[in-house]
This record gives sequence, C-alpha cells and structure tokens, in this order.
Amino acid sequence: MANTNVEELVNNLMNNHEVIRASLGILDRMLNSGKLNTHDVGKLLDFYEQFVDGCHHVKEEEILFPAINMGLYPFENSPVSIMVMDHGIFRYLT
Ligand SMILES: [Fe+2]
Repeated sequence: MANTNVEELVNNLMNNHEVIRASLGILDRMLNSGKLNTHDVGKLLDFYEQFVDGCHHVKEEEILFPAINMGLYPFENSPVSIMVMDHGIFRYLT
C-alpha cells in the first residue's frame, strides 16, 4: 500500500462506478424491453462476476477499505462494514 497513488486509485474506482452505473441502465432496459435475450443476460452476468466482483470489489476490499479503516473507525458499524456487507449481497445475487 505504500506505493499506492491515492488520487489515481480513487479516480479509477470512480470511473469503475460510472461503467457499473451504465451497465445497470443496460440491465434496466433489457428487463423492460419485453424480449429478454438470454445470451445478452449471460454476458452482463459475466461482466458483473469478472469485472465488478473480480476486479472492482477486490480493489475496494484489499486497498480502499483497509485504508479507510486505518485508525479512523472501528470496523463494526462503520461505513466500510456496510460496503463489505453490500459486496456479500452482490456475490449472493450474481
Ligand atoms: Fe464500488
């Protein structure tokens, strides 16, 4: 973590969030189209498993959350504990 550029990490995570938000718009349009294409749904699920959980969540859990928790909050009932719980729910749903 000593070599982590915090600004670069935060910008990267924020860019990830824009991509993830765009994917949710695609999912919303797919669900409301009245003609769900299982191939497209599978591709979107692949994106959630590989990019969101396999890449983005790992960066948050291994770099960002420990940095936030470092001396600032006890983990229990902290914002980070809520985000970790959200990631667990995401993994259950995908
Ligand atoms: Fe995130």
